[in-house]
Amino acid sequence: MFTAAVARKTEKAFRIYRDLGLRSLVLRLARTLGRALGLSGAGEARWRARKEAVDVAFDAEAGVSTGGITHLYGLSIVGPNATSGVSHIACDPDEFRAALDALEADLTEHSFVDLGSGKGRALILAARYPFATIVGVEFAAELHAVATANVAALPAADRARISLVYEDASRFAFPDGPLVVFLNNPFEEAVCREVARHLRADVSAHPRPVRVVYLRPQHRAAWIDAGWSSVRDGTCFLILEPCPAAALCKATGVS
Ligand SMILES: C[S@@+](CC[C@H](N)C(=O)[O-])C[C@H]1O[C@@H](n2cnc3c(N)ncnc32)[C@H](O)[C@@H]1O
Repeated sequence: MFTAAVARKTEKAFRIYRDLGLRSLVLRLARTLGRALGLSGAGEARWRARKEAVDVAFDAEAGVSTGGITHLYGLSIVGPNATSGVSHIACDPDEFRAALDALEADLTEHSFVDLGSGKGRALILAARYPFATIVGVEFAAELHAVATANVAALPAADRARISLVYEDASRFAFPDGPLVVFLNNPFEEAVCREVARHLRADVSAHPRPVRVVYLRPQHRAAWIDAGWSSVRDGTCFLILEPCPAAALCKATGVS
């Protein structure tokens, strides 16, 4: 029995290494060791308990299934960035509302795009705002399937505005028209840099109002370096706009 347990754990460690890379494996081993030594702290336990209560309340109210923590190893991931994705943890509805309300804009002409849409909670919350269209981009097939089922459970008027794309965020072609691009800490810095550059180039080629709402912003420098400026720095979110061309030239040396 002991041997079987060791074999299972070794296989899991191998899959994490293969799918997510050495860094993820080392971080996970450190966390597991910390827990075994009783070092994980009351903070994490409190966070988990609160998150579970929020998940249960949201899912019961919306009639969907968006909760839990889903690690990405073993999932069917499209594109080249499997090792740079962050596990699925749905956004906190209060944090989402705080960030969206800070936009203080007429959103009726805007599309909302969630890069790394997971099980679709941010899309469901976005449907409570008057966005013209709502798009979720997710690279894990299993999470994309859960989001599809969740959207199917929504009222027809919300469903009609939402579309789901199984795609790597760095390869997504942004829609025309004004945009709110939402990220809930979905990926590591290198992908963030690629996405920030791609979106900035898109805005230069097709000028239009675009704002980025970055929840739990771990890699803000990736955006600033790509020609975005912070217009609002909240407790748990950042709102960015493209720098005007002159400022962009100064910051990046691009003319
Ligand atoms: C923290 S979860 C956020 C889920 C959702 N946006 C929300 O707020 O409820 C991050 C999600 O990003 C997805 N993801 C990570 N890297 C991605 C990439 N390169 N392209 C598309 N999705 C990605 C993960 O699979 C995961 O579902």
